[in-house]
Amino acid sequence: MSERSATARPASAAATVPPFAVISGAQVQQAIQGREASIVDLVEATYRLHGEGDSVNPPSYFLRFPDRPASRIIALPASLGGQTRVDGLKWISSFPANVPAGIPRASAVLILNDHDTGYPFACLESSIISATRTAASAALAADRLSRGRPRPTRVGFLGTGLIARYIHTFLAATGWAFEQTGVHDLAADSAAGFRTYLEQSNATGPVTVHDSAEALIRSSDLVVFATTAGRPHVSDASWFDHHPLVLHISLRDLAPEIILDAVNIVDDIEHCLQADTSPHLAEQRTGSRAFLAGTLDDVLAGRVRVPTDRTVVFSPFGLGVLDLAVGKYVHDEVSRSGHLHVIDDFFHELRRHG
Ligand SMILES: NC(=O)c1ccc[n+]([C@@H]2O[C@H](COP(=O)([O-])OP(=O)(O)OC[C@H]3O[C@@H](n4cnc5c(N)ncnc54)[C@H](O)[C@@H]3O)[C@@H](O)[C@H]2O)c1
Repeated sequence: MSERSATARPASAAATVPPFAVISGAQVQQAIQGREASIVDLVEATYRLHGEGDSVNPPSYFLRFPDRPASRIIALPASLGGQTRVDGLKWISSFPANVPAGIPRASAVLILNDHDTGYPFACLESSIISATRTAASAALAADRLSRGRPRPTRVGFLGTGLIARYIHTFLAATGWAFEQTGVHDLAADSAAGFRTYLEQSNATGPVTVHDSAEALIRSSDLVVFATTAGRPHVSDASWFDHHPLVLHISLRDLAPEIILDAVNIVDDIEHCLQADTSPHLAEQRTGSRAFLAGTLDDVLAGRVRVPTDRTVVFSPFGLGVLDLAVGKYVHDEVSRSGHLHVIDDFFHELRRHG
């Protein structure tokens, strides 16, 4: 790992307070739409910077509530070097009871802080940024982890909410076309809605709604987990006898025996082995991390070769540096378009009187 380069402003140099902007979800979406391939490249470059040590990505902080045990708000502070040079914080809520009440489960903001002054310079709607960086990371992993094996042609989505939809969009936008698509969700209306969405796409082939996780997994060679399961619900290793590539985005679906039978790639080892993720449970079961093959950055850099004849499981904890990279990209696109909503005089007490 290289040291993070020293890039602080000299103490005597004059500084100005950057303007503070608010970027809506509609603006975020407009900045991202049609640029999926560039965002996958950006996410790859960010993984590489993180792998080189040119980032700070402390553990996420999980705020939980005794009176609402199913809900949480997570803080992801981070700092990114390279060309981007930005610090910031994603603050993302998960309130599962929102879904039956008719509104999305997750909501989020991202604050970007100026590298030189520390001043916050933007607040962005961030559920879309979060879904985008997650989907871009999944599309990158699908591509890199399937090299050397026949490219998967049968995709299966287990859990069919917002993240599944974004992952499908990013796969389709980066050249994936499937001969068949399977879906499975505990909520029939969610599966039916996703099926309708998929049938409007031309990258899916025939769509089958499976009534069990087993049927979906057995008939897919690319399996996407995007559920809200809090503990493992898939534990029969024989369902994976055909050695699929598994994008385990929701992190807690697979029992340790599945993890221990697979080649495991994560985004960041320290991050992923916490909070009762399936790899964390596998570590607790074995008292060792020997079941981990490495990180996606190890694969990108050629330090780890992925066997082509075994089940491969990618479990990304989700890094704050990815939110920063995508958030800064969106900020710069909106700024370039001339539509940045600056809040005049947001910072008020700016004169120093000794
Ligand atoms: N790893 C990352 O970086 C990352 C980033 C963002 C979101 N996520 C995770 O992705 C998951 C999906 O997020 P979302 O916003 O799409 O959620 P969502 O609430 O929109 O959809 C989740 C779907 O999963 C279904 N589901 C729940 N348990 C299931 C089970 N056991 N089997 C089948 N279906 C089941 C629900 O009915 C729902 O339709 C969440 O767990 C979230 O925490 C991970």
